[in-house]
Amino acid sequence: MTTYIGTANPGFAPYAMEELRKRIPGSAVSGLAPGETFRFTSGGMDDAALLKELRRDEPVFLRHLFPIEAEAQLTSDPASTADSLRRYAETLADRVKGRKIAVQVRKSHGSPFPFTSVEGRDFVAEVIREAGAELVAREADLIVSVYAAHKTLYTGCSAPKDNLSDWPGGAVRFRREEGLISRAAFKLLEAEQAFRLPLDKFTNALDLGAAPGGWTSVLLERGLKVTAVDPAQLDPALEDHPMLRHIQKNASEISFSPGTFDLLVCDMSWDPYNTCRLVSELASSMTAGASGIITLKLMYRKPFNTLQELSRAYGEVFDIRRIKQLFHNREEVTMWVRRKP
Ligand SMILES: C[S@@+](CC[C@H](N)C(=O)[O-])C[C@H]1O[C@@H](n2cnc3c(N)ncnc32)[C@H](O)[C@@H]1O
Repeated sequence: MTTYIGTANPGFAPYAMEELRKRIPGSAVSGLAPGETFRFTSGGMDDAALLKELRRDEPVFLRHLFPIEAEAQLTSDPASTADSLRRYAETLADRVKGRKIAVQVRKSHGSPFPFTSVEGRDFVAEVIREAGAELVAREADLIVSVYAAHKTLYTGCSAPKDNLSDWPGGAVRFRREEGLISRAAFKLLEAEQAFRLPLDKFTNALDLGAAPGGWTSVLLERGLKVTAVDPAQLDPALEDHPMLRHIQKNASEISFSPGTFDLLVCDMSWDPYNTCRLVSELASSMTAGASGIITLKLMYRKPFNTLQELSRAYGEVFDIRRIKQLFHNREEVTMWVRRKP
């Protein structure tokens, strides 16, 4: 039986906890940083089976987890904290030798942890480098995770795939490109990674609720032809792009010939049930098997009901491949669907 640190988007930990409680018989959960981080004990289920099950069908709200291998009392004293970090790192000598290791240090808001994340990482890194590990930031064989809570320092070491994300706490970061049109673009970039759905394999996209044009600009950069629908203006930087057509209308007023698009994306700020109706009507303009990436707004604060109802409604015309609350989602989740043949 292992205890894990689980992380969700701010305010959504109770839902991640509920998902785990329902999915894993005999499991127990308790909050750490309110709304965001929690402890989760696997109950009777074998750990390998548990992780396989979570990877197979990822919970919507659980962003990241790592196994707790050691716990130490945490104070603001630098010497004893550095000691706890080094002592745990020393136990890893055999596992890290000759391997690529990332060290990820996070602290909860208000934790007495007396170092920055980088300083904390350096204490661990020094010890495991001496043990023969190669320190890397990405594409590690193993990740050493440190989470500093209010009274306790939690440490563990695991394969990136078992953490559900190889980013610290699942906080995916993209470099802020010059001229980025909107932060919303990060949602699409994250969805591309999370769903392993390279956007450049599509050719003709419909973007519903496209303004100011963050998603559209990502699709254009990937070489797609884009039909952007939004009554609002697109960013002037996109004007006159040869691969872009902007239809400045409400998405409920448009229609297209059958099988026009092999990708539909929708980030409309609208009631999720109306959005579902509209997207389902436009499904005929997609080729059979075409993909859809759709943000589902969780407006009614009952996410499980909303998701169940929307899954049923979308399920009439689409195969639902994944629903995940991405790091860049706020009061919403992102869904990947394929149009049924
Ligand atoms: C969050 S913004 C989209 C941001 C966009 N994905 C980006 O990357 O820049 C939501 C957009 O949905 C549009 N919208 C809301 N209801 C709509 C509708 N019925 N038809 C078309 N667009 C709509 C709004 O005008 C707004 O521009």
